[in-house]
Parts: sequence; C-alpha cells; structure tokens
Amino acid sequence: MAGSPTLATERPRLRLGVNIDHVATVRNARGGRHPDPVQAAEIAVMAGADGITAHLREDRRHIRDDDINRLKALIDRPLNLEMAATREMADIAVRVRPHAACIVPERREERTTEGGLDAAGQHTTLSPLIEELRAAGIRVSLFIAAERAQIEAAAALRVPVIEIHTGAWCEAVADGHGDRAAAEFDRIRSAAKLARGLGLEVHAGHGLDYVTAGQLAGLPEVVELNIGHFLIGEAVMEGLATAVRRMRAAMDRGRSSAFPPASEGGEEGRLPPQADPAT
Ligand code: PXP
Repeated sequence: MAGSPTLATERPRLRLGVNIDHVATVRNARGGRHPDPVQAAEIAVMAGADGITAHLREDRRHIRDDDINRLKALIDRPLNLEMAATREMADIAVRVRPHAACIVPERREERTTEGGLDAAGQHTTLSPLIEELRAAGIRVSLFIAAERAQIEAAAALRVPVIEIHTGAWCEAVADGHGDRAAAEFDRIRSAAKLARGLGLEVHAGHGLDYVTAGQLAGLPEVVELNIGHFLIGEAVMEGLATAVRRMRAAMDRGRSSAFPPASEGGEEGRLPPQADPAT
C-alpha cells in the first residue's frame, strides 16, 4: 500500500496470549473444579489479554478436553490450542476449531515443552496434518527453535505463523549468564528477521517474564507473545494477600454470627479461654 510504513518504522501492536495451563495444574492437584482455568481466562481477557492459549497434552496433566470445549464456547477472544502432531489432537482441533493451533513437540517425561519442533526432520508427517488443520480454517503455527533450518522448513510447510522458543534465552537471563543471554537474544533477533522476510508471522514464547517480554517488545517482527508460568506465579503472589484478607473476614464473620457479643444476648462469654498462639 502506497505510503504505508516500512517494518523499520512501524510499531505493530504486540499481542499477549495468556496461557492458563497452570491454573488447571493447581485445580487437578485436588481433583475438583477450583480454580477454574476458564474463569482465569475470563479474568485475563478482562485485564487485557488479546487471546487465550491452552495446551491439551496427551496425558491431560493440566488442561482437559472439557476445558477446551468451554474455552471455545465461553471466551470471546481467539483461542490458541497448543497440540502435539498426533491423530488424536488433529481430530480434536478439527472438531473444536480454535482460531489457531500451535504444533509443539511433546514428550511424556518432560516437565514442560523443552525444545522446539523438528519441522525440518518431520516434513513428511507434518505436511498432511497442517493441510488438514488449514482446511478446517485453523491458523497453524509451529513452535520452533531460533534456527535457520527450522524457519526455512516452516516456510516450506506453508504455515502462516511460527512461534520462536525463547526458553534458552530466558534461562540464560534468569541464571545471570550475560554472554550466553546476549548470544541467544541475537539468535532470536536474526530468526525473527529471517522468518518475517520469508513471509511468516512471528510469535514468541516460553519462560518469559516482565523483563524478557519487555526486551522482546523491541523486535518489530514479533507480533505476539504467549506467556503462562510466570503470569500464574505472579497472580499467586499478587493475589494471595487479597485471598487471605477475604478468608480472615469470612472467619471473623462466621465467628461473630455464631457467637454474637454477650451484650447482644450471645454466648461468647461461654467459650472457654484459649491460648493465643500468636502471643
Ligand atoms: N508457547 C508455547 C508453544 C508453549 O508450549 C508454552 C508452554 O506451554 C508457552 C508458550 C508458555 O510458556 P511459559 O509457561 O513458560 O510462559
């Protein structure tokens, strides 16, 4: 378009996809319904998330099928389904039709998605699966390392989007390894440029926190960050004081309604005195 800004001068909006997997991790620890990842998604959207990301793992260790169905039905922002390249997951994606599907490598023994997808080595198996998702109207992205071979393989697979795995960089930053962090960031910067040059939309994610997300925001090619673990951890830290205050109030209310002050004809005076553990 005539007069449109070049990538060097424009400032494209950087979207935030909030990954709510770990709300489900906490819920599943007790097997009940609380905390609900769908309610967390609603809160995230209210607070400014542009989309919701959820990884339906083969072992269902956090997000479950019903969560995905409810996210699709109840959340009015794009749903990004992270999934392994398996027959089962492709069938689910085609049935649910999320806005996007990010294909990730998955190993049962890993704690989280530890590396990027080998798009270069798995062209033959990925190609028909990607076609199937595309035919269902799903925007497919590949979660890959910041490596030339993987980016070129993603372009050859004709996906519209890649998500660059930022885990190694974030780890180097967190461990205070300045040289390694600088080298990893350079790799991400070059990868983002290369991918954009090949016509791919560039997303990034894994291990991001306030500092690393802020630094990535300086790369104009990157238009979406997907962030989970750190945000849920921060939510615990920021929300714990509120929850404790509400619990304190609920307990105090319960006590005073069961035992109104003696002046109101209550039975408070009949409670035997007890030692105060705080004194
Ligand atoms: N993007 C992808 C493709 C992922 O697999 C994950 C982890 O589930 C994330 C982003 C979010 O990573 P984190 O939870 O470390 O922020």
